[in-house]
Amino acid sequence: NVLILDFGSQYTQLIARRIRELNIFCEIKPFNNLPEDLNSYKAVILSGSPSSVRAENAPHPDLSKIRGVKPLLGVCYGAQYLAHFHGGEVGQSNTREYGRANLSMIKESEPFFEGVEVGSQVWMSHSDTIKALPEGSVRLASTHDVENAAYRIGGEETYAIQFHPEVYHSTDGKKILENFLINIAKVEQSWTPDTFVDTTVAELKKKIGTDKVILGLSGGVDSSVAAMLLHKAIGKNLHCIFVNNGLLRKNEFHDVLKQYEGMGLNVKGVDASARFLDALAGKSDPEEKRKTIGRVFIEVFDDEAHMVEDAKWLAQGTIYPDVIESVSATGGPSATIKSHHNVGGLPDFMKLKVVEPLRMLFKDEVRRVGASMDMSPTLLGRHPFPGPGLAIRILGDITPEKVRILQEVDAIFINGLREWGLYDQVWQAGAMLLPVDSVGVMGDERTYEKCVALRAVESTDGMTADWVNLPYNFLQKTSNDIINKVKGVNRVVYDISSKPPATIEWE
Ligand code: XMP
Repeated sequence: NVLILDFGSQYTQLIARRIRELNIFCEIKPFNNLPEDLNSYKAVILSGSPSSVRAENAPHPDLSKIRGVKPLLGVCYGAQYLAHFHGGEVGQSNTREYGRANLSMIKESEPFFEGVEVGSQVWMSHSDTIKALPEGSVRLASTHDVENAAYRIGGEETYAIQFHPEVYHSTDGKKILENFLINIAKVEQSWTPDTFVDTTVAELKKKIGTDKVILGLSGGVDSSVAAMLLHKAIGKNLHCIFVNNGLLRKNEFHDVLKQYEGMGLNVKGVDASARFLDALAGKSDPEEKRKTIGRVFIEVFDDEAHMVEDAKWLAQGTIYPDVIESVSATGGPSATIKSHHNVGGLPDFMKLKVVEPLRMLFKDEVRRVGASMDMSPTLLGRHPFPGPGLAIRILGDITPEKVRILQEVDAIFINGLREWGLYDQVWQAGAMLLPVDSVGVMGDERTYEKCVALRAVESTDGMTADWVNLPYNFLQKTSNDIINKVKGVNRVVYDISSKPPATIEWE
């Protein structure tokens, strides 16, 4: 187990992901909340930070229980922090030290740089620089502009690097992390999807015993994988509820329900479409629509949950990025703007204990865990889909007819992406029904019909996104199909806005 102390760098989660890719388990903790018991950690990594170590309010945690006791690696701010407080000197750098650089000197025979050669590309992102190394240190690497790009403190297993090994642009970054963790810290590579499944299932069995658990399935990857783990642990005592809010994709309720049943899950499909659409009638403000859907969902879910007598637990598909305590540079609340629409969405009055089997996993790990349980690649590879569904893709008020139109359009677009082999290159895709009628001509007839916008984006977490450069042939064929097949639509546009400043959804 590896501990990453977070000083607020935008790359901290990337460090964790790189380490997990080495099949090593790691946890991120804020620098100001050091775990009491450090026994289980075999190595510690100090992250970067937007602060300068020289600033008064910068993170300055007490590392006396770590440094010299455990193998320690300081990255960027972490490297400067070690230098600043141990007899070295950190100051403003004279040259810009951002982006690409190449290692121009590497101290040979150091296990830290095993397999890394002079010329290796590294990624820099700092304005302070280490002007003098801490006492008793050995310089391990330099770049053209950064003399002290890496060093080791003599007599202890403390290493420091000024560049970021976690970003893809540092070509040997993973190798360096591997050298530190495996060769130097002797950490075991035992974190694999299979072992995760085995240990999680055993833990769930022990924790839950013969209690009943309720879980809301959404059709998405997280809730489905969480359900499968619980199913393995407690079988029929897992009661899954899959609600049709009438705003799902075409045929989705039926198809996904069948798929869940095929996986052996004890699942109840609840078609509450009418209840949702009635509650939404006449509402056109996006936030009001969201609130209405959230409220009705809770009512429906609560009704269903009460039918499961004696349930003790509520299972949720919460994943690691939702639970990492984030820090800002000053240790106050983080300024990051997050849209965790699924966290804490259920009412307290349900009084159930919460179980979250995926709370330590990143999204890609959730997929790998699902694959190791032989879940269908189609289910695991599904694009994210918002909880309020098509409601936030129908701009303005919602009617059953608008839902029908958008479902048809969306199905043509998504099926097309699959047929053309484009689906997996896209992070999320969908269609928006605009509150715009425009003039067209079909045959000799004038039409005055709806306009739809297609949206396909690349992203890793939905926080930032860019539009996908879909082939013109594909767009041409899709547009033709939509206008010819979907009654009520005479115009198709493609959204070429990035996030920010736009968002992925239009509402
Ligand atoms: P935006 O539109 O904010 O979307 O760029 C980012 C990601 O979040 C999804 N999204 C939602 N998911 N409830 C959800 O469960 C919502 O109200 C909601 N709004 C946006 C969106 O689909 C994208 O993946």
